[in-house]
Amino acid sequence: MSKILSRAALGPLFALVTAAHAATVTPPPAPPAVPFTKATVIAGARFFADHCSACHAVNNLRYKRMGADLGLSAAVIKKSFMKPGGANYLKGMQPAMTQAEAKKWLGLPPPNLSHMARALGPRFLYTYLTSFYWDPQRPSGWNNHVFPNVAMPNILAPWGGIYTKNGTLLVPGRESPAVFDRHVADVVAFLRYASDPSIFERRAIGRYVIGAFIILSILAYLLKKDYWREVHDKDDHSGSQKSATRKPTRKD
Ligand code: HEC
Repeated sequence: MSKILSRAALGPLFALVTAAHAATVTPPPAPPAVPFTKATVIAGARFFADHCSACHAVNNLRYKRMGADLGLSAAVIKKSFMKPGGANYLKGMQPAMTQAEAKKWLGLPPPNLSHMARALGPRFLYTYLTSFYWDPQRPSGWNNHVFPNVAMPNILAPWGGIYTKNGTLLVPGRESPAVFDRHVADVVAFLRYASDPSIFERRAIGRYVIGAFIILSILAYLLKKDYWREVHDKDDHSGSQKSATRKPTRKD
């Protein structure tokens, strides 16, 4: 009985706590509606190659494949995306920093981001990248609303600005919030492509496959009509024959 009573008392308490929590926690920002096109992926890839690949690998995405998918020549890939020193056109994106260096400087090796967009979802990646705040208690000086005590420093601060935990702007970035959001969404578009490199190929082939299905459906419909025309003709024929034979028997 006392169990039932305590549960009855706890129920509304839980409801109150969850309601209070929901009221204080603002929902994560939604990524701006950026079209997922080759152009946005290329813009994101450029930024990634210049800034993120200092630490992060995208092992499973070969430069050659990226060039073929995004319509970029080997010369452009080598000049704009491959960093000098160790990058191989036929291999995946490698970080400039070695794992040992990363461990020494950051405390742990930055993860390979090949499948991150699939594992965490583009929306989470966008929220993560826009949720850093200044925290002097952390060794790097940075913390993150959706990844508490994160080891990654906020390398986007020069563009997006520096905020405190409660959202006060300490140092404005060199980009307006709208441009910065767009910029981050491009990087997320690149990570989405990296986790699913056949997406553009699939979309291009998909159009022909749907076209082929439509043509096949029309052919199947015409064939069906043709078959049934024969059946209907036979029906009509035998029907008239029957009535022709019946009539005289009735008369008899
Ligand atoms: C100075 C090195 C460094 C740079 C530059 C860097 N990162 Fe990171 N990143 C890290 C480290 C270290 C972690 C691991 C964080 C942890 O586990 O605490 C990480 C983690 C991540 C994660 C995983 C988050 C999760 O929830 O697991 C993503 C996604 C990511 N980084 C994206 C990026 C992008 C995009 C850029 C470029 C805009 C970038 N990083 C630049 C060091 C870096």
